[in-house]
Amino acid sequence: MRTIAITINKGGVGKTTLTKHLATAATAAGQNVIILDMDTQQNATTWGKRRSQQQDEHLPVVRFVTENDLPDELERARQAGCDLALIDTPPGRSSEAPAAVEAADLVLIPFWLESDAFDGLAKSAALARRLGTPAIGILNFATPNSRSHEEAARSVLEALDVPMSPVVLHRYEVYRLANPKGLTVQEVEPESHAADEIATLWEWLSAQVQLNTSAIVHKRATA
Ligand SMILES: Nc1ncnc2c1ncn2[C@@H]1O[C@H](COP(=O)(O)OP(=O)(O)OP(=O)(O)O)[C@@H](O)[C@H]1O
Ligand SMILES: [Mg+2]
Repeated sequence: MRTIAITINKGGVGKTTLTKHLATAATAAGQNVIILDMDTQQNATTWGKRRSQQQDEHLPVVRFVTENDLPDELERARQAGCDLALIDTPPGRSSEAPAAVEAADLVLIPFWLESDAFDGLAKSAALARRLGTPAIGILNFATPNSRSHEEAARSVLEALDVPMSPVVLHRYEVYRLANPKGLTVQEVEPESHAADEIATLWEWLSAQVQLNTSAIVHKRATA
């Protein structure tokens, strides 16, 4: 099982959005996925409840968990045959983020092009470095049809010595619209740029953590 923590102490940058969309993409690719929601706002958990009412949709399991229970929950997920655990963390200084980063194989740090987010990103990257977990920044809210955000973000991250994902997420209304229905952009607008960028991000990420559909198919075929 691979474990990925999604964290930045700045609020509203897209931690939960990234978690839900990656979890759904992985589930659709045939993986057994669990979202561990460490945020007492429980945005991922309530999204999961709304989602479970949409019977046709693929269902990542979503569970709220405190830092005390995290190691046991991860072990339970591993024993239950989960392929991927995604840990969503709260904003602000918290004990949850360090616990998630420590437990993870990889940390994803969503950020946007704004100095507060760069501060948060630098702090999360430093935490990951301290705990020995590789970290990658993912630019969110980039302006569609413009590369200027991406180029500016790349040079800031280079200066901070934080690797940046080659895939960038743009500001599209459909991300917000999908949420109240317990859905994702892939389901609400499957032909959209937003759905495309999530598919590309998942493809890239699954290769990074060596989780790909063919490996899973092989595993199931030989099980
Ligand atoms: N790329 C995007 N385009 C448009 N809206 C977005 C995008 N990413 C996130 N959003 C919207 O921005 C809001 C904040 O996103 P989200 O809840 O994922 O942030 P967060 O980092 O988890 O926030 P918090 O720190 O409060 O947990 C949500 O309404 C979400 O739908
Ligand atoms: Mg959140």
